Amino acid sequence: KKYVIGVDLGGTKITTAISDLEGRIIEKTTLATGSHLGEEVVMNRIFESISMVLEASQISDEEVRAIGIGSPGPLDAEKGTIITTPNLPFKNYNVVKPIVKKFGIPTYLDNDANAAALGEYAFGAGKGTKHMLYLTVSTGVGGGAVLNGRPYRGNTSNALEVGHMTIEPFSKHQCNCGKYGDLESLSSGTAIAKRAKEAVAAGRETSLKEVETITSYEVHQAYLAGDEVAKEILDQAFMYLGIGIANLIVNFDPEVIAIGGGVSKIGDLFFDKVKASARERSFDFMFDATKIVPAELGQDAGVIGAIALALIESEDK
Ligand code: BGC
Ligand code: NA
Repeated sequence: KKYVIGVDLGGTKITTAISDLEGRIIEKTTLATGSHLGEEVVMNRIFESISMVLEASQISDEEVRAIGIGSPGPLDAEKGTIITTPNLPFKNYNVVKPIVKKFGIPTYLDNDANAAALGEYAFGAGKGTKHMLYLTVSTGVGGGAVLNGRPYRGNTSNALEVGHMTIEPFSKHQCNCGKYGDLESLSSGTAIAKRAKEAVAAGRETSLKEVETITSYEVHQAYLAGDEVAKEILDQAFMYLGIGIANLIVNFDPEVIAIGGGVSKIGDLFFDKVKASARERSFDFMFDATKIVPAELGQDAGVIGAIALALIESEDK
C-alpha cells in the first residue's frame, strides 16, 4: 500500500489530502464546517472529503495504508472519540469507527497540535531533532511534543494542552473552556481580538475601530502605525505567551520549539517579544539551547500533520 490520507478537522473547515509515503500531497480538498452544524452533517462532510481525494487521485481504498485525523481536543485517541471542543459539534462522538466501517482503512485520531508536531518533526522545523515541541497560536492555543523521537501523548492522550495552563491566576479574562487566566484566554487570536473590542468599548484613544470583525491582523497593523493601545494589547499577549514558553522550556528542555498559527504570522515582532519574555523566565543556558522558530509547513501544517500521524501510526502496527 503506497498512500495515506490526512484529515485536518478545524472549526471552520475540513482539509483532507492524500499523499504518498514520503508525505508528498497528490490531491487536496477543503470543505466548510462549523459548530452550528450537527454531528451527522459534519461526519458526512468528512466522508465526502475522503471520497473526493480518492476520486480525484484515482486511487482505490485498497491502496491506502491508513487515515490520520487531527482534531482540537480534548479527545480520546485510543477510542477515537472527540470528547468536547467549543468549535466542533461533536460531544463524546466516535469519528474513527464510522470511517473504518465505510472505507475499510485503519484510522487514527490525534489532537490537531500533536499531529502538527509530528508533521513538523517529520517534514518541517523539527527535522533531525530528538526533542521538539510545536505550538499553534490561532483561534485556540495548542501544543504537541515529540520526545526521544516519539510522539508524546500522556496518559489520556491530551498531553500538551498548553492553552489551558494557568498563567495569570487573578485574571478576569475567561477562556472558552470556562477557566480564567489560562494561556488561551490571554494570548490566542481570540484573546487579542477581545482585548481590542474591550478597548474600543471602553472609549480608549485608539485607531482600532472595526468592533465586530477585528482580528490580530488589524491590531498588528495599528501597532505598526504607532497606536499605543494596539501596542499594549500585543505586548501583553506576547509577554504571556513567553511565560508559557518559559514554563515549557524548563519542563521539557526541548531542542526546538516550532510555532505556527495565524498570530505567529505577525513574524519578527511576535518572535522577538515572545523570546524576550521567555528568556527572562528561563535558565539562560536552557533558553539559549532552545531554538524558537516559525513552523515551516505553513498553511498545510494541519493536514501534513494528519498525514504524518497516519504514516507513523501505521508503521508501528
Ligand atoms: C484546544 C486544543 C487545540 C487548540 C488548537 C485548544 O482550545 O483545547 O486541543 O489543540 O485549541 O486548536
Ligand atoms: Na496537544
